[in-house]
Amino acid sequence: MSLEVAIENYGREFPLKNGRTCHVRPLGVADEKALHRFFLNLPAPELMLIKHRVTELKVIHEWCQSIDYGRNLPLLAFLGDDVVGIATLHQQHGGWKRHIGRVSVHVHPAHRGLGLARLLIVELIDIARQSGLKKIEAEFIAKQENAIRMFSLLGFSQLFCLPDYVKDMQALTHDYLVMGLDLITDEEYAGMG
Ligand SMILES: CC(C)(COP(=O)(O)OP(=O)(O)OC[C@H]1O[C@@H](n2cnc3c(N)ncnc32)[C@H](O)[C@@H]1OP(=O)(O)O)[C@@H](O)C(=O)NCCC(=O)NCCS
Repeated sequence: MSLEVAIENYGREFPLKNGRTCHVRPLGVADEKALHRFFLNLPAPELMLIKHRVTELKVIHEWCQSIDYGRNLPLLAFLGDDVVGIATLHQQHGGWKRHIGRVSVHVHPAHRGLGLARLLIVELIDIARQSGLKKIEAEFIAKQENAIRMFSLLGFSQLFCLPDYVKDMQALTHDYLVMGLDLITDEEYAGMG
């Protein structure tokens, strides 16, 4: 199955641990303001670790104007009109890593611990598997311990850790850690019975 088929008409409701229901769907052109508001609400130390200047409206405008799900598939979680979480599946067309997807996730601080990150990543893993990817990676700064724990719970394991390897937006160096997960495709599942 292709990515296009996997996300055709994609839009789902999920119950959260507090009893509320969130709506999950891919980023659309009209989400610019809601997504920008979401990033403005992230704590400054976390913004330092994001690779793009996401508090600048022009950055989000560019993302919304040049949507290409085959390269970047952002899944947004909404409570009402508010974006409360985002997880993105990044892919490369061609090259050594064409069979490997990369995921990242951020959840609004007021809505953490409700299962949002887990459900977004589980959805992206499913989409990645359906679209034929063989592996998923996730990148971390070693001090993102909560995130590393969450990915471990989802079956990811550490691939490598490079001490003082990357720099944040303030040019401070951090240990760089990459986790990975092997995917089983639908066809491989079918052959297991
Ligand atoms: C890490 C992050 C994405 C977790 O989001 P979340 O929606 O609160 O996570 P969930 O509620 O889905 O929790 C999933 C699991 O992670 C663990 N976990 C999450 N937050 C935790 C915390 N603060 N302390 C301990 N464990 C935690 C829990 O074990 C939980 O498992 P459970 O569902 O069985 O209880 C969120 O804290 C965040 O946005 N952090 C900043 C960005 C970041 O570090 N992103 C990762 C880089 S890709």
